[in-house]
Amino acid sequence: MSKNRSWGGRFAEGTHAATAAYTQSQSFDRTLYRQDILASGAHAAMLGRQGIITPDEARAIIEGLEHVREEIASGTFDWKPEHEDVHMNIEARLTELLGDAGKKLHTGRSRNDQVGLTFRLYVADSVRRWQDNAVALCAVLTKRAVQHKLDILPGCTHLQPAQPVSLAQHLLAYAWMFRRDTERLDDALKRVRVSPLGAAALAGATYPLDPHGVALEVGFNVVYGNSMDAVSDRDFVLETLFCAATFMMHLSRLCEEIIFWANPVFGFVRLPDGYSTGSSIMPQKKNPDVAELMRGKTGRVYGALTAMLTVMKGLPLAYNRDMQEDKEAFFDADATVEPSLRIMAGMLDELEFRTDRMREACKRGFLNATELADYLTSKGLPFREAHHAAGLAVAEAERLGKGLEDMSLAELQEIEPYIDEDVHAALDYAVAVRRRETPGGTGPRSVERQLEQLDQWISDRN
Ligand code: ARG
Repeated sequence: MSKNRSWGGRFAEGTHAATAAYTQSQSFDRTLYRQDILASGAHAAMLGRQGIITPDEARAIIEGLEHVREEIASGTFDWKPEHEDVHMNIEARLTELLGDAGKKLHTGRSRNDQVGLTFRLYVADSVRRWQDNAVALCAVLTKRAVQHKLDILPGCTHLQPAQPVSLAQHLLAYAWMFRRDTERLDDALKRVRVSPLGAAALAGATYPLDPHGVALEVGFNVVYGNSMDAVSDRDFVLETLFCAATFMMHLSRLCEEIIFWANPVFGFVRLPDGYSTGSSIMPQKKNPDVAELMRGKTGRVYGALTAMLTVMKGLPLAYNRDMQEDKEAFFDADATVEPSLRIMAGMLDELEFRTDRMREACKRGFLNATELADYLTSKGLPFREAHHAAGLAVAEAERLGKGLEDMSLAELQEIEPYIDEDVHAALDYAVAVRRRETPGGTGPRSVERQLEQLDQWISDRN
């Protein structure tokens, strides 16, 4: 058993080794060292400005922190499990270097507000990285869409053939999702980038602190409104994890499509070699493991969100140690989301679209039945009757074992005398796509407008 020097004053005996191992977080929260040092430097500078410590002490602390930062970055820092977490390891080393001045850093501060600011800085950095990767992914999607403005494939509802769409339209649907995900994070950042420093343990402090000055110095411009809320709020983690979960959900849907598009029954894509694997027994196999794993890893991120919702739900005010669980949950989500976005961009960039197979597939499933109904409406038939007549034509075509476009004029007129010789032009699949020019529709002018909007957004973000 050993006694903790940071808080061991009132303890007669030390902690059990098992307790220390159970409660420590330095093994994983050391990754927060840059943010902890940034926050501590800002705190020390503020203490100096406010006359709580001398300017010389503030300067010494800031220089000492910089020294510690270099030790950690270069791998020479000696992490000590007995110092529990990243915060106490850094402070202990600072004190070792500076003596009494180091001991003054923690004036007017608690680890409760300290960890809050440190972690908020870390989460904000992660969010920026996710956003950069998401914008890069959108750029790949728009690039591929430009290459496939005129290629068509069956658009589905209920995973059943519905109406033909352009491949560009299909790809851009995902670009819009990832754009929303990115913007959702902009909104979350407004609440992540709030400094709790000054709340101290829970009730505020007796020193003349300047929380706003600290916030500005670390790059935030908002401070907490209530000290108890400040040290016990983990909404910022929950909200960010929700955004991460939504990213993964969208990625997972795209993975699912890539997986069945790669199945030879569809044969809509050929997987790039660099993004697929083989089988140890079946020589013909080329498996979409990357897409499958990404779909699977979505579960981890949902797990992190669920874990933190559960951790928080019963906690009384204010800080509770349970909240230390936010670190590993977030780190795991972070280590999943960022590479997933990056690898999806790489895979999409190299994915080969088999547009011949896509076009061919449009002929199966009567994707031009709506065209026939619209055609009859244009000839003066009320839409409901037109719909019914087109349904009869589908049944007849099915019986004859061919597509609507392969039926002769006579066969079609047999079903509905309103049909003229211009009907075959209306049944053309590519024409069906070209005519859908309502805003956001699959028509080429609409796709062009979407591309302009997305390209503008991408360049604004870069
Ligand atoms: N490692 C702790 C955490 O991540 C730091 C705060 C500890 N505060 C305390 N009073 N025990 O939450």
